[in-house]
This record gives sequence, C-alpha cells and structure tokens, in this order.
Amino acid sequence: MAKVDIDNLRMRDVESHYTRYANSKLCNVLWTKALAKRLHAAGVTVNCVHPGLVKTNIFQRLGNVSRAIWLMLIGLFFKSPVEGAQTCIHLCVAPELENATGDYYSECKKQCLSNRADDDEFAEAVWRETLKIISD
Ligand SMILES: NC(=O)c1ccc[n+]([C@@H]2O[C@H](COP(=O)([O-])OP(=O)(O)OC[C@H]3O[C@@H](n4cnc5c(N)ncnc54)[C@H](OP(=O)(O)O)[C@@H]3O)[C@@H](O)[C@H]2O)c1
Repeated sequence: MAKVDIDNLRMRDVESHYTRYANSKLCNVLWTKALAKRLHAAGVTVNCVHPGLVKTNIFQRLGNVSRAIWLMLIGLFFKSPVEGAQTCIHLCVAPELENATGDYYSECKKQCLSNRADDDEFAEAVWRETLKIISD
C-alpha cells in the first residue's frame, strides 16, 4: 500500500490515512536499514518489528465509523499487549540474535522484505531526507 515520494516525505497533501500509515511503516524499515549500517562499527544492533495486530491505544483516534468496526475486530481477534511484545523481547534477549541488525522480524522470526523495503539506495535517500526534515 505504500507510495513513498522521496521529495514529499511529510505527506501533507496525502489524504488517505492508510497510505500515510503504510508510507510511515515502509520508511521505518528503510531508515532502520540505514541506521544499522551506521551503527555496525560501534557494535550496536537495530531491527524492525511487526508486532502483529495488538489491542493498544493506536485505534483511539480513528473516526467514529471506522472506530466502531475496528473496536469490534480488535476485541475478537487481536493479540494482548503482552503477546504483541514477544518479538521485541525475543530480539532483546535471544543469544543467537546478538549480532542481528538491519532486519525485519515478525512472530519472533526474520521475515523477507518486499523489494521496495530491500532497496539500499532508497534507504539512503530516506535517511538523507529524514535528516533534512529533522534539522529544519
Ligand atoms: N497495534 C498494532 O496492531 C500495531 C500493528 C503493527 C504495527 N504497530 C506499530 O507499533 C508501534 C506502536 O504502536 P501501538 O500500537 O503501541 O500504539 P499506541 O498504543 O498508540 O502507542 C504509541 C506510543 O507512541 C508514543 N508516541 C506517539 N507519538 C509520539 C511522538 N510524537 N513522540 C514520542 N512518542 C510518541 C505514544 O506516547 P503517549 O502515550 O505519551 O501518547 C505511545 O506511547 C507503532 O509504530 C505502530 O505503527 C502497531
């Protein structure tokens, strides 16, 4: 669903919440890849985690119609926060992942990246543009 325009990372004119969300998640993965390269020499590891669908406060700001539907689905199918935290915890404590970095995990396993998320050149562009935005 992501449609990242590198010249418009702030997405102020992008109306769809879903596109904005998808773009932000893709940029999380790309930015993490770029950060991992920079921290490698220091021995610091960084990874991305998809927690699954988790009952958190993330849905509190949805509009009324979407919110009612989401709240019903959340109650029925979503993980508890404790369950949703398991992949993060696994990454922090699993000895075999001590040197794992720049990867994407879900359900405590490394996952394949989409072509768009596995693009080093694009990751560097996202990194540069993000630094520009931060320093504005
Ligand atoms: N829940 C899911 O099903 C799900 C699925 C996939 C991915 N994720 C991802 O998991 C991450 C956490 O989401 P969540 O479900 O735990 O949502 P959440 O319950 O809404 O928690 C979001 C957290 O981010 C903090 N935060 C928000 N804006 C911030 C800002 N500008 N500066 C500093 N902190 C800020 C909030 O702080 P305050 O409490 O102080 O506002 C809150 O602690 C998000 O990146 C989300 O996209 C969630």
